[in-house]
Amino acid sequence: MLSAIKIAIFLWPLLSFTPSVISRSFLINNVSDQRTLSKRQADYLPKDTQKPDIYSFTVTSNIQFRYANTTISNRVVNPSNSSKEVSFQVTLPESAFISKFLMVIKDKVYEAYVKEKEEAKKHYQEAVDQGNTAGLVALSARDSNLFTVSINVEPLSKVTFNLTYEQLLTRTLGQYENVINVNPGQIVKSFSVQVNIEESSDITSLEVFNLKTSNEINSVDSKSINYKIDRPSDTTAKIIWIPDITEQQQISSNGVKGQFIVRYDVDRLSNPNQILVDEGYFVHFYAPTNLKTLPKHVLFVLDISGSMAGRKIEQLREALIQILGDVSSGDFISLILFSDSAQLWTTTGTVGEASPTWYFNEERTTSTPDVEINERFIIPGTPENINKAKEFAAKLTETGGTNVIAALRKALEIATWGQKKYGIKAKPLIIFLTDGQPNVEMSDTEEIVKTVTKLNVDQYAIFSLALGDGADYDFLRKISLSNSGFARNIYVASDTTLQLNNFYKEIASPLLSNVTFKYIPGQIAENTLTKSVFNDLYNGTELIVAGKLTGNDSLVGNLTYVDINGFFCIPLPPETRVNKTRGHLEKLWSYLYIKQLLDKDLISEEKNSTYKQQALELSLQYGFVTPLTSLVVVKPNETESGTVIRNSELIERSKVF
Ligand SMILES: *[C@@H]1O[C@H](CO)[C@@H](O)[C@H](O)[C@H]1NC(C)=O
Ligand SMILES: *[C@@H]1O[C@H](CO)[C@@H](O)[C@H](O)[C@H]1NC(C)=O
Ligand SMILES: *[C@@H]1O[C@H](CO)[C@@H](O)[C@H](O)[C@H]1NC(C)=O
Ligand SMILES: *[C@@H]1O[C@H](CO)[C@@H](O)[C@H](O)[C@H]1NC(C)=O
Ligand SMILES: *[C@@H]1O[C@H](CO)[C@@H](O)[C@H](O)[C@H]1NC(C)=O
Ligand SMILES: *[C@@H]1O[C@H](CO)[C@@H](O)[C@H](O)[C@H]1NC(C)=O
Ligand SMILES: *[C@@H]1O[C@H](CO)[C@@H](O)[C@H](O)[C@H]1NC(C)=O
Ligand SMILES: *[C@@H]1O[C@H](CO)[C@@H](O)[C@H](O)[C@H]1NC(C)=O
Ligand SMILES: *[C@@H]1O[C@H](CO)[C@@H](O)[C@H](O)[C@H]1NC(C)=O
Ligand SMILES: *[C@@H]1O[C@H](CO)[C@@H](O)[C@H](O)[C@H]1NC(C)=O
Ligand SMILES: *[C@@H]1O[C@H](CO)[C@@H](O)[C@H](O)[C@H]1NC(C)=O
Repeated sequence: MLSAIKIAIFLWPLLSFTPSVISRSFLINNVSDQRTLSKRQADYLPKDTQKPDIYSFTVTSNIQFRYANTTISNRVVNPSNSSKEVSFQVTLPESAFISKFLMVIKDKVYEAYVKEKEEAKKHYQEAVDQGNTAGLVALSARDSNLFTVSINVEPLSKVTFNLTYEQLLTRTLGQYENVINVNPGQIVKSFSVQVNIEESSDITSLEVFNLKTSNEINSVDSKSINYKIDRPSDTTAKIIWIPDITEQQQISSNGVKGQFIVRYDVDRLSNPNQILVDEGYFVHFYAPTNLKTLPKHVLFVLDISGSMAGRKIEQLREALIQILGDVSSGDFISLILFSDSAQLWTTTGTVGEASPTWYFNEERTTSTPDVEINERFIIPGTPENINKAKEFAAKLTETGGTNVIAALRKALEIATWGQKKYGIKAKPLIIFLTDGQPNVEMSDTEEIVKTVTKLNVDQYAIFSLALGDGADYDFLRKISLSNSGFARNIYVASDTTLQLNNFYKEIASPLLSNVTFKYIPGQIAENTLTKSVFNDLYNGTELIVAGKLTGNDSLVGNLTYVDINGFFCIPLPPETRVNKTRGHLEKLWSYLYIKQLLDKDLISEEKNSTYKQQALELSLQYGFVTPLTSLVVVKPNETESGTVIRNSELIERSKVF
């Protein structure tokens, strides 16, 4: 008999918020990382030295219309003649929701179910009180969560673990990316990874990368793999990788450990604007081609406080110089640096805190002197000016505190001034980078978010970059979500400069402003339409709107936007009926809708907002493990046992980490 079933399932969120392909490089979880865990944490890692045998390790990722459904299946046997703890670990993308977990023990299936978090916690506590252990496991894959289950397996018996997670792939820099972490922890007899793609238009590019085994940029560590691509039709693809024992050994004698990455894109020319309809749900994809970039006004709001010392400021300098090199002559830039106060760069020097003695003043000035904002802070991207800016960037040095509010206030003033003067010829994009927490002038982050959002009347996009572990990512997410932008984690590693550059590339080509999808209101069920007004559209991305239809009629409406030639209003394209995809579009819709509700809840001031309530309801209805729900696993004798503790609680801990 199974004497006890120990379940410790953890999701350790390592930040990031958009469902995305955001960070292109990851640090693979690595055994030596586990040594850095505290004793308490390490206690919960499997201790047994005699590893159970993994009979088979199977990953199947089904992608249909950008929505990926990935199942990882592990069949394990305990070869020894004493009962052993067996653990199953999966690293999954941060943007994914777990939708299913089951174990098969002695031909009996134990399927986990999703419960409201508080309720699940109660069950969990009961399990802990009964002597089942629980603890934390950390890892270092970027923008990832770790899922771990440990159970006791009888001598010479087998157990199967199946975990399914779902995510909407976000188009970034012209491609969708599906990343699968493969790490069975040993050489496996039967090992397979399969990715099946089915799209609504032709798949025009498809790339499978070498197995990514480290984060370093000159990745000598990436391993070429022997995969097969099958293209049954123009709109479908099958990628299969079945490494035999020899191939696995060539990758590592301890078994395969890395990321299996597939990138693809679909035909845009014939289908830039596409509406799919099935079983009462619609999904609208929009990624126009052949447009000219809108000229932009990039405002760099950069932290040069003392904590930036060393590698961070070096990499910032390097990245800034490279990014400046990409600025076109029709664009404008502003450089706003902040430490104890804000300094504004002009081609003839910085204004704001000119006095070199100021930084050493015991009583720090806590407000930026009132500098009259005018044209001199909005620098045309001429080669001459860019060279001056690069020279300045090369000399950036760090000192002092972190006065976020002064910098953002100045940035908004400058952006507003630029808009008045240049209008559509200088679309403002504010890039706000910090590595620490605000501690001068205004340190209450809620107050900063409120103040900035109020000041930002015209909703210029603020993109926040959290550099390293010290930055308050939640705060940055709130600022960006409230101000038409998004936040990103930038990891301090050898590729920091590259991460900054890639981020810049994503937003470097705004094509459209104020994109609004208008549908006849009665056609869409109340409280089901996802976000339909977008501040911008960037080259290489895609806008997605989804909802539930009230009837059977064709969707009617318009799409309006502003491009370089002015305002446009185009009628919606005819829809494509996708023929009974078994609730697939509904799943895609629910995923997107729940994500957006969670974002709205994050920036809502209410504790129990209607967004939160609706998100909870839908998470339970669709069986998603979200920050509001947990997974409960049923004990073999059908009384409840362990559970997952999810996000929001662990987010608090991850700040400490
Ligand atoms: C594993 O982690 C250690 C310490 O954190 C690091 O020195 C080493 O380079 C890492 N190895 C890989 C392959 O990432
Ligand atoms: C995802 O895969 C699982 C397991 O194969 C299946 O039960 C589920 O219906 C799939 N979900 C979607 C949205 O395709
Ligand atoms: C677990 O996953 C494997 C591989 O996807 C599948 O063959 C098997 O049927 C699944 N088991 C159950 C009980 O769903
Ligand atoms: C089973 O366990 C006993 C001790 O409990 C040991 O002497 C024996 O060698 C073990 N047999 C196998 C096949 O591992
Ligand atoms: C948009 O990106 C594509 C590559 O993804 C490139 O070919 C095209 O020139 C870009 N367009 C603009 C306006 O930057
Ligand atoms: C954006 O477009 C909508 C619909 O065309 C319009 O009502 C709104 O005023 C526009 N907003 C801005 C800021 O231009
Ligand atoms: C919608 O149309 C399909 C066929 O196009 C039909 O089978 C179905 O009954 C219709 N449903 C409603 C609610 O009218
Ligand atoms: C779409 O545009 C047409 C023509 O401008 C207009 O008559 C119609 O009312 C618009 N529809 C919606 C849903 O805004
Ligand atoms: C759906 O079915 C209709 C009629 O059977 C067919 O014309 C259409 O091409 C199908 N659509 C797709 C996307 O397969
Ligand atoms: C939130 O509000 C809903 C409806 O008013 C209520 O049912 C629920 O219990 C509340 N939740 C919390 C945690 O207060
Ligand atoms: C499950 O196990 C508990 C104790 O471990 C026992 O009290 C309970 O009766 C068992 N339930 C069933 C349905 O066997």
